Amino acid sequence: MKKDFLAVSDYTPSELQEMIDLAVSLKKEHFAGGNKPIFKGKVLAMIFQKPSLRTRMSFDMAMRHLGGDALYLSPAEIGLGQRESIADVARVISGYVDAIMARVFDHAHVIELARWSSIPVINGLSDYNHPCQAMADALTIIEKFKTLKGLNISFIGDGNNVAVSLLHICAKLGANFTLASPEGYDMLPAAIEDGRKFAAASGSKLNFIRDPHEAVKHAHVIYTDTWTSMGQEAETEKRIKVFPPYQVNQKLVSEADKDVIVMHCLPAHRGQELTDEVADGPHSVIFPQAHNRLHAQKAVLVKLLAA
Ligand code: CP
Ligand code: NVA
Repeated sequence: MKKDFLAVSDYTPSELQEMIDLAVSLKKEHFAGGNKPIFKGKVLAMIFQKPSLRTRMSFDMAMRHLGGDALYLSPAEIGLGQRESIADVARVISGYVDAIMARVFDHAHVIELARWSSIPVINGLSDYNHPCQAMADALTIIEKFKTLKGLNISFIGDGNNVAVSLLHICAKLGANFTLASPEGYDMLPAAIEDGRKFAAASGSKLNFIRDPHEAVKHAHVIYTDTWTSMGQEAETEKRIKVFPPYQVNQKLVSEADKDVIVMHCLPAHRGQELTDEVADGPHSVIFPQAHNRLHAQKAVLVKLLAA
């Protein structure tokens, strides 16, 4: 049966660890002269309903480095579910290429795409989650701390798509996860419930609190993301009033572990969720983290396409 990559929660801890190990070795191979062209003749279709820099470029370059190619389909082109039904788009694309990566608004749409495709489908972000980001995040954390097990990882801000995938990878791989979010911006209860199930198996401790200062105490990782995700633009003014106490600034960082790293999936809204001082300061790993998307995406592709 074909495999998709729609959520971290669909994979076992050992499968996730294997994928991270694969990312590490593909990264090594890349810097030691280049990856082997194992995807010669293979093409990835990339469907975007929202803008992207990192996801688009890292998948495109991942395919090229592995000897394959990628096709970009912009939001205006496909009209997923509007110009044509998702089921029809899926079945048409399945006859042209070897895999699909899709960035969608409604998570149900990427599930529908996978249901009707006869080729692997990768979720390049939905309103619910961002599993490819979580793979790059885990790789970045492991490069710094060797393992996720036992680390304290604190997400400050909106309980959004990026937070969901981070929670799930932490809970699968034994890291303690804390979310500090303002009232009304909690993570979806179903995502928390899944997280608790994974944590029960791995020994992770999970905390869902309001106070960002309490959240960063003993934190090895402080993670933040935009206060307003793509698709929520109508709420920007309201959110800008609620979220300032959740800004990751020098004062907040100084309250964490002395070796804390600061992460952000990017794009960052400097001066809002993250100050320039922190983004460009000694604890920040935001650019290595962005670069790790390339290596993590290669591992996901190899796992699905070369199997
Ligand atoms: N982090 C991330 O997914 O970035 P893009 O929106 O630029 O792809
Ligand atoms: N939470 C953000 C992540 C962007 C990569 C969004 O969905 O817009």
